Formats: sequence, structure tokens, C-alpha cells
Amino acid sequence: MLTLQSLSEFREWRMSVDPSRSIGFTPTMGALHAGHLSHLHALAPVVDLRICSVYVNPTQFAPDEDLERYPRDLERDAELLAEAGCDLLFFPSDQSMYPAGYSTYVEVEGISSVYEGAHRPSHFRGVSTIVAKFLGLVRPDVMTLGRKDAQQLALLERMVIDLNIDTRILPIPTVRAEDGLAMSSRNAFLSADERERARSISRALGAGSAAFAAGADPEGVEVLMRRELDAAIQPDYLDVVDRRTFGPPNDETTEHLAIFAGYVGSTRLIDNLILESR
Ligand code: PAF
Repeated sequence: MLTLQSLSEFREWRMSVDPSRSIGFTPTMGALHAGHLSHLHALAPVVDLRICSVYVNPTQFAPDEDLERYPRDLERDAELLAEAGCDLLFFPSDQSMYPAGYSTYVEVEGISSVYEGAHRPSHFRGVSTIVAKFLGLVRPDVMTLGRKDAQQLALLERMVIDLNIDTRILPIPTVRAEDGLAMSSRNAFLSADERERARSISRALGAGSAAFAAGADPEGVEVLMRRELDAAIQPDYLDVVDRRTFGPPNDETTEHLAIFAGYVGSTRLIDNLILESR
């Protein structure tokens, strides 16, 4: 696996790629786990070359969120990526991504200010900006994004349409532990008791999904999910939305999504499930 940090070296490499070879791209902030690696595996049959970026993007952290404490282990990430068959690891520096005088940002209106956007006001502006920058550099045919971060997925799907970017987004299913908990580096912070309580999140979403399939409307699904959630978990939100807009479902909605965010002890978890009607 090739590893590159410098933008100019990356550009040079990108120019050298035979245009007939297709490129897949997985953007990450490192601290890789099985969830990330499933992106690389999903790309294997789809593209000729697989690129992964590891970059802890400062513009998606608010000043009160501890950017410095975000876990970083580039050596281990590189080992995992090489094992997963990644062709190139790109890990640019802050100085190269946001040099002095940097002043351009991408904002996807509407969807960036609800749910996770309301909780973390400048977060999605940072996400859309860095992903637009990576797409400009990497010019991939396919980019993977996890369904676990459903609002980020919907926001970036909107962005590539609005900015006429010729990259297909490949959504990757959420990887779950045996007890149903969605894989996240934050799960490590849960005590045994909290972990037990956290299991009720996927149970609640599952109950909502079964009710929707049986004909319940979004309001009915919400009531049922709240009933199933452990009483000690106070959700920031537990709702049914339009999967693409994150607005309330309406006659144009083609995909319904049940979404959850909330604290289990002092750990904030998010999860979601697509609701399928039978
Ligand atoms: O999902 C993430 O890890 C980040 O938001 C992303 C897409 C890599 C942008 O920094």
C-alpha cells in the first residue's frame, strides 16, 4: 500500500493513474474499526483502485468539542488498511488542507441545521467542506459513506447532486455487534450496565421497523419506539423522517428512516434504521 501525505505528491500520483482504471474512495478520521473496513471490502468488487483518507478535520469540531482528544493511531490504521487491500492511504496535514488565508466553505442548507446539525451547529459545514475538497483532489468514481451517519450521508448525497460532482455514493450498511449495538469507537466508553441499556436502542428501532411494516404510521412508530427504549435513556430525538431530506415524511417520501440520538450515561450515541413497508 502506498502512503502519501503531501498534496503535491498525491496530485502527481492521481495524474499518473490510467484513466481506464476506476477509483473508489473512503474518507475517514482514522481510529479505524470493523465498520470502516467494511467500506474497503464493499469497494473491492466495484472499482480497480481503493483510496482511503485519514484526516481529523478541525472544521467539523466546535470549539468546545475536544479536537485534541480525538483518538489518533496512524500506524495501526495503516496496518488495518493494508490488510484490507487498500491501495493508497492519504493523510494530509492541517497546513495543507487549511493553509493561512483559507476562506472557502460549502454549506448544504436546511438539512445541515436539524437533528445532529442543531446539536452541533457548525459540524456539517465542516463535513461538506472537507468532503468537497477531497472529492476535488481524489476525483473518485465511487465514494463510500456509512449508513450509521445517516444525516451526513443524506447531506453529502445532496451536495454531489447540487455541485454536479460525478461521483457515485455507495452507502455502506451499519455494522452491529452481536447484541445489536451499532459499531462506534464511543461504545468503548460504556460501562457494562450502560451497554445493557444501550441494547434497547436497536430494539426500539427494530420494533419501529416491524410496526411500520405492519402498517403503522410515523406517529404510531414513534410512540412504540419510545415505549421500547430503556427508561434511563433520555433521547435527544427519536423520530421518523424522510431519509433523503431529514424533514417530516410527506407524500413524496420514498424512504422512511427511524432515527435516534441520546446519552447513555455520559456517552452520546446515534443510530437509525430504514423502515420498509411490506
Ligand atoms: O464520517 C466521518 O468520519 C467524517 O465526517 C468524514 C466523512 C471523514 C469527513 O471528515
